[in-house]
Amino acid sequence: MTGILAVDYTTRIPNNVGLAEDRTVLRALEGWHPGYLDWWQDMGPEGFQDSLVYLRTAVSVDPKGWAKFDYVKMPEYRWGILLAPQEEGRLVNFGEHKGEPAWQEVPGEYRAMLRRLIVIQGDTEPASVEQQRHLGKTAPSLYDMRNLFQVNVEEGRHLWAMVYLLQKYFGRDGREEANELLRRRSGSEDAPRMLGAFNEATPDWLSFFMFTCFTDRDGKMQLESLAQSGFDPLSRTCRFMLTEEAHHMFVGETGVGRTVQRTCEAMVAAGIDDPTDIHRVRALGVVDLPTIQKKINLHYALSLDLFGSEVSTNAANFYNAGLKGRFHETRIDDDHRLTADTYPVAKFVDGAIRLVDEPALTALNMRLRDAYTTDCAKSVERWNKVIEKAGVTFRLALPHVAFHRQIGEFRNVRATPTGEVVSQAAWEAMRDDLLPSAADGDFIAALMQPVTEPGRYASWIAPPKLGIDNKPGDYEYVKIEV
Ligand SMILES: [Fe+2]
Ligand SMILES: [Fe+2]
Repeated sequence: MTGILAVDYTTRIPNNVGLAEDRTVLRALEGWHPGYLDWWQDMGPEGFQDSLVYLRTAVSVDPKGWAKFDYVKMPEYRWGILLAPQEEGRLVNFGEHKGEPAWQEVPGEYRAMLRRLIVIQGDTEPASVEQQRHLGKTAPSLYDMRNLFQVNVEEGRHLWAMVYLLQKYFGRDGREEANELLRRRSGSEDAPRMLGAFNEATPDWLSFFMFTCFTDRDGKMQLESLAQSGFDPLSRTCRFMLTEEAHHMFVGETGVGRTVQRTCEAMVAAGIDDPTDIHRVRALGVVDLPTIQKKINLHYALSLDLFGSEVSTNAANFYNAGLKGRFHETRIDDDHRLTADTYPVAKFVDGAIRLVDEPALTALNMRLRDAYTTDCAKSVERWNKVIEKAGVTFRLALPHVAFHRQIGEFRNVRATPTGEVVSQAAWEAMRDDLLPSAADGDFIAALMQPVTEPGRYASWIAPPKLGIDNKPGDYEYVKIEV
């Protein structure tokens, strides 16, 4: 039966949740829609709202064929409500309610907790669109510009996904939260977004690639945990969002990889053996590898903060309640209650960084962060392969988890990227070697010259291996002037 998977495009809001028969929720969403479009016009990609963009739109949630590609003006993108199909007989798979049937309605005792989880996730989605809204003007190619806009419209859809849950399951306060999601603004003084990394600037394309590689990957880990939820509509929503999220990380990882590749090619062609000779490297119109490392240091550290405190009773409560599980919860071989287990947590004890066993329940943030680090390390390894293949001697690395943290065990510790604890003064003296400096930012900003001719790429980035939707190299992914 394909009816379950197919998306109904006859309503103003495409969906596979039977909105046409759910008048109350349909009305609430239709009431929210104009405010969303205003937000998109104000805070979405600046200068390209009338351009035709070669975007994919979900036409089915079937993993084999959900995407349809076509030219769309972004404000006319069919944002919709798409949930993965309901699994017959699904259970709560962890916590105090393990083994009970999964909830199709919000359990009263967990209402506030669940709403908070949904609002925090929802708040990150529009935030990243706001952070990235100026980047279209400096895109290194039409291919990259299109990928930026694809990520942006999908983050918009993720906002819709969370707003649907709020409006369908949380009545009046859900509607209020939905409106607040359109009111807060990334970086705003009086109404900032809820999480730190989502109030930072994304000033250039290298930041964008780092953000989609590292910060969207935090999103992936959070969605993976929420996809385990005993609240079935949340689980189904997140499972479909994950299919979109994979593309965001592809954009980030390959974006950095192509930057690294171009740098190495230019160095080899110019006969530069020393990657740290940044003046000579920069004169080639590419980003030197030490600066790429500094960008990694910054974005990885900011993203680690998104996991919250390593030891957290909130995380334990979410788990006990059956609302937020572990990464790949159902594949883990244990009792899925964790009442007697421990987990090693990195802490600052007696002036040194050590692993200390903590109750597994309160260490869930640390555990998810560890899974995240493992995932990030794979991207870094692939970048190192590119460097190696080019014959350049240099290695990129993730900094130590204690480096440059604002939240958790290491917030008051000054550590180097290799995990050596140093004094504040020593750290300050090294700062510009560890994190992007103002001069690095100026250099990168000067490199960000837009390239809008089909098939051409800016000096600092290599073309992709493959086109989108198997299109040829000179495909016009964005028709800027229509
Ligand atoms: Fe998202
Ligand atoms: Fe994303």
